[in-house]
Amino acid sequence: MADKEKNNYVSKDKLGKNFTHKKQIVKNNEVKDNKEMKEKNTSSKDIILSIKNASYRYSDAEENDYALRNVSFDFESGKIYAIRGRSGTGKTTLLSLISGLERCTEGEIIFDGKSLKDRNLDKYRNSDIGIVFQSYNLLPFMTASENIILSMDANGLKLKNKKEKAIELMEKVGLKETYADRKVLRLSGGEQQRVAIARSLSYNPKMIIADEPTGNLDKQTETEILEIFEKLAHEEKKCVIIVTHSQNVCDAVDVIYDLKKVAK
Ligand SMILES: Nc1ncnc2c1ncn2[C@@H]1O[C@H](COP(=O)(O)OP(=O)(O)OP(=O)(O)O)[C@@H](O)[C@H]1O
Ligand SMILES: [Mg+2]
Repeated sequence: MADKEKNNYVSKDKLGKNFTHKKQIVKNNEVKDNKEMKEKNTSSKDIILSIKNASYRYSDAEENDYALRNVSFDFESGKIYAIRGRSGTGKTTLLSLISGLERCTEGEIIFDGKSLKDRNLDKYRNSDIGIVFQSYNLLPFMTASENIILSMDANGLKLKNKKEKAIELMEKVGLKETYADRKVLRLSGGEQQRVAIARSLSYNPKMIIADEPTGNLDKQTETEILEIFEKLAHEEKKCVIIVTHSQNVCDAVDVIYDLKKVAK
């Protein structure tokens, strides 16, 4: 586990040597970071998702009433990001663009080198990204493993032993096998969120997107959930993007993107 300070964290490279990451804080486009760090980042960039000048206007909004305006952010594999901003700054709107639920009104999003304009968004959602919600969105009368298997089925995953895979995913997020047959309504909030994260991993996506995933949890449980996200990013090289209002989350991530309200 990373040895964290407020704006830095230390982790080990493959040879077990410590190295320090410096947290970047980015306000819309402007990179607030030292020059040396920017150069270091440029040389080691492994960008999985790039938002280029994206704007979004809801179909029922007036002509100049944009929910999101000219946003450009890059996301790398192996890092964990926070998107923060006051209510109404377009965080959920941005996540719906990233997750392919909506298309940009202007600008574009490039995932793994390919514009989402040229992609089947249903396929993109069912294979490349996993989504985690604040209120877990599990089916309460089904068991934990059934919820995960349902997602495998919905995404057309062909596997001989889906339950075994579901248990493996649950263990990855710190839930013992005995939880597999427990109905979701008999799980605590923190346990439900672990199941939801396991479900989001069922088709091994490259990116995990979470909208306020710890918003309903106490601080200790939030820290435990964050440790799962950190592992997914730093050990499994997934790109994790978290929309949050929580300072605890912002302290834990590698990069913070600040959204500002669109001027009307
Ligand atoms: N379905 C919709 N139709 C029209 N306007 C919308 C719709 N959803 C959101 N908006 C508007 O878009 C803007 C951004 O909303 P969004 O929900 O993305 O903000 P947010 O940053 O997620 O806020 P919060 O922190 O409260 O969740 C707001 O002005 C909101 O009123
Ligand atoms: Mg929101």
